[in-house]
Order: sequence, then structure tokens, then C-alpha cells
Amino acid sequence: MKLTLLSTTLTFGLAFSNPHRARGSLTEWAPAGPDDFRGPCPMMNTLANHAFLNHNGKNLTQDVVVGALTQALNFNESVATIMFQQALIANPEPNATFFSLDDLNRHNILEHDASMSRLDAFFGNNHIFNQIVFDTTTVFWTADTLDANMLANGKISRQLQSKAFNPNYTFTSTTEQFSLGEVAAPILIFGDIPSATVNKSLVEFFFQNEKLPVELGWTKQANAISLSDVLRMTQVISNATSLITGSSDASHATKRRDFHFGFAF
Ligand code: HEM
Ligand SMILES: *[C@@H]1O[C@H](CO)[C@@H](O)[C@H](O)[C@H]1NC(C)=O
Ligand SMILES: *[C@@H]1O[C@H](CO)[C@@H](O)[C@H](O)[C@H]1NC(C)=O
Ligand SMILES: *[C@@H]1O[C@H](CO)[C@@H](O)[C@H](O)[C@H]1NC(C)=O
Ligand SMILES: *[C@@H]1O[C@H](CO)[C@@H](O)[C@H](O)[C@H]1NC(C)=O
Ligand SMILES: *[C@@H]1O[C@H](CO)[C@@H](O)[C@H](O)[C@H]1NC(C)=O
Ligand SMILES: *[C@@H]1O[C@H](CO)[C@@H](O)[C@H](O)[C@H]1NC(C)=O
Ligand SMILES: [Mg+2]
Repeated sequence: MKLTLLSTTLTFGLAFSNPHRARGSLTEWAPAGPDDFRGPCPMMNTLANHAFLNHNGKNLTQDVVVGALTQALNFNESVATIMFQQALIANPEPNATFFSLDDLNRHNILEHDASMSRLDAFFGNNHIFNQIVFDTTTVFWTADTLDANMLANGKISRQLQSKAFNPNYTFTSTTEQFSLGEVAAPILIFGDIPSATVNKSLVEFFFQNEKLPVELGWTKQANAISLSDVLRMTQVISNATSLITGSSDASHATKRRDFHFGFAF
């Protein structure tokens, strides 16, 4: 995979008129202005607010996005490159080499129903942070340290709510893979990867402010976030979405015949 040198990213930044763009900063932060683009991803918005991405949210090329994900969050460069390439489809232009944050709003391209903190497109704005929606998710965040079960429960609840009340609810198996990654992401960035836990205050601060929780003591991961970290965390969340418990206790129970039909699957 092509290496994006830091100097390449910085030089590239000079091509933009916005002086904030060049490098980004953990301590500098400004919300979007009236002509700036933002989208449904709390982290893309956050990185633009810190100017790790172009503050205007436009023309996000591979150099810019990979630079932001590696420098601000310590993603492995190969992983960051994959993420960028998967996002290019959001730009409706053929053979696009960049996307803009408002491209991410296009419903059922990458943006999907049952988000943790955004309305379904059927009900209104599918990309701006919505405290009422977020509150329905955080009901399931039942301790100061979040684990995979709490995050998974919030995700399932949002899907059940959409399936019940949004007549246009759409959630394919591809959506599920993206969704699992989104639910895993806060642990990968803000949490403890080996134990798959994360401080709830940091995650709530991030969602609500679209700002990195530096003032709460967060620092980026010491080790680059690798593809195996991403795949494992996604699997941990996926496992936690199961509504079936597994335990030694159940071993004799599973041998019983189903009460109603007399057979087990
Ligand atoms: C190239 C990089 C990325 C792109 C293009 C991207 C794009 C998106 C898009 C389109 C959504 C909307 C899905 C929905 O409907 O909920 C989303 C959601 C989300 N993204 Fe990203 N994302 C990127 C990286 C990240 C990273 C590094 C994080 C780390 C924290 C992150 C965290 C999230 C979270 C937590 C959500 C779910 C929001 C919710 O459910 O309310 N994303 N992202
Ligand atoms: C930046 O993106 C906009 C669309 O968002 C496009 O019209 C414009 O040509 C792009 N500029 C550059 C320099 O690529
Ligand atoms: C990123 O991951 C690739 C592939 O797994 C690996 O070869 C490379 O050394 C990693 N880079 C860093 C900076 O950790
Ligand atoms: C996009 O790329 C393909 C493959 O390289 C090429 O055949 C096609 O003409 C390109 N389309 C545009 C609009 O540039
Ligand atoms: C409704 O569902 C269809 C099919 O899944 C989808 O293409 C469309 O974008 C959805 N519209 C809204 C507003 O949810
Ligand atoms: C979470 O972070 C906040 C802010 O730094 C801190 O006050 C709190 O003690 C932490 N909670 C846990 C459970 O570590
Ligand atoms: C997920 O569950 C499967 C089946 O119980 C188990 O083999 C696997 O180790 C679990 N994966 C993770 C990452 O926890
Ligand atoms: Mg959504």
C-alpha cells in the first residue's frame, strides 16, 4: 500500500485557501460555519472541527483523510486507506478521487437507518446529531464504563424502534457490517482495546460536542489501530448482539425437545 508521507499531506494542505486545513490540532477546535459541510459521521465532523480534515468538509482526498486518521487517531495507514476507499462511493461522480462530508448524507449509500444518534431519513434530518435519539441509545449504557453488551443493546434497540415505527426501515447485511463497525469505533478510538471497554463520559462528550475528548484526559492509542483490532472489535460487538445466551448451564437444557413442537433446530 502506498505510503502517504506527512510532508506530502502538509504540502497538499497548502493548496487549500483555508489556513486551518494544513495540519489540524488536538487543542484547536471550531464548529462548522454556515458554508461548511458536515455529515452523519460524528468522527468525520469532529476531525473537520479540529481541521485534521478540511474545516469546510469539502474535497476530502485520500491524502487528507489518511493523514487525519493516522495523525489524529493513530490508525494504521493501511486501515485508513481502506476506509477512505470504501467511502469514495459516497461521491456520485464517476471515478471520484475525493468526497465531501455532505456526500455521506445520501441515504442508503453509506448512511443508514437506526443510527445511534441520528433520525432515520424517513423521519427527518438523517445527519445532524439528535439528542432525543441519542438518549434512547444511552438508556442502555448502564455503567460508567461501557462494554460490548451495553453498546450492542443500544444498537439493537435502535433497530427494533425503526423496524416497528419506520414503515420504510431498511437494514441489509451490508448495513449490518457498517453498523457493527460504527458501534465498535468508540472502543477502538477512546477505549481499552484488549478489554473492549470504554469510558462512557468520553463517548458521550464526543457524540454531543463533535470534539475529541482531550479535556477529559483522552490521548490517542499508543499503538496504531490495526486491521486485526478492527476485525476483532467488530466481532466482539457482533457476538454481543446475540439475544441467545450461551452457558454451561444450558447444556442439558438444549437436549430437551422444544416444548411446543417436539423438535429442536
Ligand atoms: C473514512 C472514514 C469514515 C467515513 C467515510 C465514515 C462515514 C460514516 C457514515 C456515512 C456514517 C453514517 C452511518 C449512519 O447512518 O449512522 C458514519 C457513522 C458513524 N461513524 Fe463514521 N466514518 C469514518 C470513520 C469513522 C471513525 C474513525 C470513527 C471513530 C469513532 C467513526 C465513528 C462513527 C460512529 C460512532 C458512527 C455512528 C453514528 C450514529 O450511529 O449515530 N467513523 N460514519
Ligand atoms: C471541491 O468539491 C466540490 C464539490 O463538493 C467541487 O465542485 C470542486 O470542483 C472541488 N474542488 C477541487 C479543487 O477539487
Ligand atoms: C499497518 O498494517 C500493515 C498490514 O497489517 C503492516 O504491514 C504495517 O506494518 C502496519 N503499519 C504500522 C505503522 O503499524
Ligand atoms: C472511469 O474509469 C473507467 C475505468 O478506468 C473508465 O473506463 C471510464 O471512462 C471512467 N469514467 C469517467 C467518467 O471518467
Ligand atoms: C425507503 O426505502 C427504499 C428501499 O429500501 C430506499 O431506497 C429509500 O431511500 C428509503 N427512503 C427513506 C426516506 O427512508
Ligand atoms: C471517565 O473519564 C472521566 C473524565 O476524565 C473521569 O472523571 C471518570 O473518572 C472516568 N470514569 C471511569 C469509570 O474511569
Ligand atoms: C465470537 O463468538 C464465537 C462463538 O461463540 C467465538 O468463537 C469467538 O471467539 C467470539 N469472538 C470474539 C472476538 O469474541
Ligand atoms: Mg443514519
